[in-house]
Amino acid sequence: MKTDLEKWLASEGKIFLKEIGVEKGQVILDFGCGVGHYTIPVAKVVGKEGKVYAVDKDSEALNQLMQTAKSEGLKNIEPINTQEELKIELKDESVDVVLLYDVLHYMDQRRKILDEIRRVLKPGALLSVYPKHHKFDDPLWTLAHMGLEDVIREIEKADFHLEKKSFKKLIHDDNYDKGYILNFKKRNTRS
Ligand SMILES: C[S@@+](CC[C@H](N)C(=O)[O-])C[C@H]1O[C@@H](n2cnc3c(N)ncnc32)[C@H](O)[C@@H]1O
Repeated sequence: MKTDLEKWLASEGKIFLKEIGVEKGQVILDFGCGVGHYTIPVAKVVGKEGKVYAVDKDSEALNQLMQTAKSEGLKNIEPINTQEELKIELKDESVDVVLLYDVLHYMDQRRKILDEIRRVLKPGALLSVYPKHHKFDDPLWTLAHMGLEDVIREIEKADFHLEKKSFKKLIHDDNYDKGYILNFKKRNTRS
């Protein structure tokens, strides 16, 4: 029998990401990609004309991701190993979608990384966030004291606008789970 992760990587991940708003040919930044549970399906959705930048500070996770990419025949993923969490080595306004999934709880300087994400996103482009480990969902580390509404407020303060909040079946670590996905659009002017 197939595991949750095998099912997710084979088909359900692609369906999820299309529902989120990812389209063929887009440029994606998967920030805090880990071993690639979202990177692999998003690379399949954007296809050969698209590109996925996979950013993580953990080089072992990136190696594992690239092995999976190779075994799946995916050539559109570029790993970026960053030690410096406050800087993303991409050009201004060059990205269509940023995935920020299950990573916010690691960060205590979230505003700086949100500013970097805003810089690399095209005008009006999509920031999709899965804020796991907040106060009401297995609280951990820097999100343990924050509810979902606090997370939304913090991201909106960084000049994003919440467009859609949906409760979805998704993959967390290696298993299916349910959680809120927050889709923000970049505001074109700074407040
Ligand atoms: C729990 S994993 C989530 C992986 C993937 N996004 C997912 O949802 O399956 C969080 C990842 O974020 C990475 N990470 C945390 N803080 C980071 C930072 N400041 N810069 C780059 N990567 C970071 C960690 O190394 C880890 O691989």
